[in-house]
Amino acid sequence: MPQSKPLLSEYDVIVIGAGASGLMCALTAGERGRRVLVLDHSNKIGKKIIISGGGRCNFTNLCTEPGNYLSDNGHFCKSALSRYTQWDFQALVDKYQVAWHEKTLGQLFCDDRSQQIVDLLVSECRDVGVTIRTKTKIEGIEHQNNDRTPVYHLETSSGKFSTQSLVVATGGLSFPTMGATGFGYQVAEQYGHNIIPTCPALVPLTMSKKWLEQFAELSGVSAEVIVSCNGQSFKENLLFTHRGISGPAILQVSSYWKVNDSIFVNWLPAVSAYDFLKEAQQRRAKAETQTILAEHLTKRLANALCEHGKLRLLTESGRKAISHYSHSELEQLANEFENWEMQPTGTEGYKKAEVTLGGICTSKVSSKTFESRLQPGLFFIGEVLDVTGHLGGFNFQWAWASGHCAGQFV
Ligand code: FDA
Repeated sequence: MPQSKPLLSEYDVIVIGAGASGLMCALTAGERGRRVLVLDHSNKIGKKIIISGGGRCNFTNLCTEPGNYLSDNGHFCKSALSRYTQWDFQALVDKYQVAWHEKTLGQLFCDDRSQQIVDLLVSECRDVGVTIRTKTKIEGIEHQNNDRTPVYHLETSSGKFSTQSLVVATGGLSFPTMGATGFGYQVAEQYGHNIIPTCPALVPLTMSKKWLEQFAELSGVSAEVIVSCNGQSFKENLLFTHRGISGPAILQVSSYWKVNDSIFVNWLPAVSAYDFLKEAQQRRAKAETQTILAEHLTKRLANALCEHGKLRLLTESGRKAISHYSHSELEQLANEFENWEMQPTGTEGYKKAEVTLGGICTSKVSSKTFESRLQPGLFFIGEVLDVTGHLGGFNFQWAWASGHCAGQFV
């Protein structure tokens, strides 16, 4: 016999999406005494939190500031980031005595497991009476205005629910295996919002077949570099992979890279390349170019760059003695190693992207309350909005901040 769905249940707030921003919004609204229901289609809540940071969740960044975010409107994130800061979330983590450490560049990670972050959010939700339902598919959303107050009716696989405040916290498109869908964008469009075109970000870049053949032996090798693209530079590690290039420096720059753009790598970020090579001419006149470069790079990398780079002939595949370069040749060599051009063919896509660039255009969303300016009672928070952080805990900080701020108004 077909199971009949439960009858309508009323809540003050329904949050769609039990991820980082949705749970934060729910617990904040619950603290205000609101009756809150969180719905998620996945079998488990906070899946991205659990897999984040290699299982240790890089939950915030001490250096968070608006400059760490990409958006069509760079001002939109400012208000929430200043009202719920990295120190506020750190205090919540400390309240639960979750041990953490600062890795590099202000990035805070759990010492133990990311699950601890999910557990603390669930505990806060439970304390204020938030109901969380997983495995619930949203089949339809309708609204009506009762005495000018909107009421949203949700048809779901777990029954019918109604609410005055509906919060969309369904995140972006990256990692579909973790439950990501474009549902939030559809709801936004249903109510007249524009979507800034989306694309994968914080994502490995792919290289051509020819390039991969040349640098195949470097798969797994990494080096600290400065990578630049479209006016943005990041000093972090680059990793050679069997599909192309990855590592923090490449993930960062991928958010600025567009098809057909080149990226530029400085392989000698710790020194002035020219000064270093000039000084090497005095110090180790007879040494081969690749041996000199291996003072700063691994031998394998130094050899491969000389062997397959543009200056193969000039460097005699790396075997030319450093003293044999003229002044202008040395300048050429220095320039090449500081501005090594690479032309990626694409990205590894949403499957491998940590975040989604673009999303719901912020121009019709309040940066104070996160309520739609087009549809009263409808709120958007987290990654579903056109706000994308750099790598390093900034995306979770945005989820916490936007979730907390919306939670005060729903
Ligand atoms: P989030 O994705 O967290 O939650 C969305 C929720 O909505 C999910 O639970 C999903 O199941 C649900 N949902 C989606 N569609 C639905 C539908 N149709 N119906 C019902 N529910 C639906 N950031 C960072 O700061 N530090 C880090 O260490 C990492 N590491 C990291 C690793 C990996 C592998 C990924 C993929 C991402 C990261 N991130 C990160 C990014 C970070 O995970 C991300 O920015 C936040 O989780 C976004 O929070 P949201 O709440 O917006 O979405």
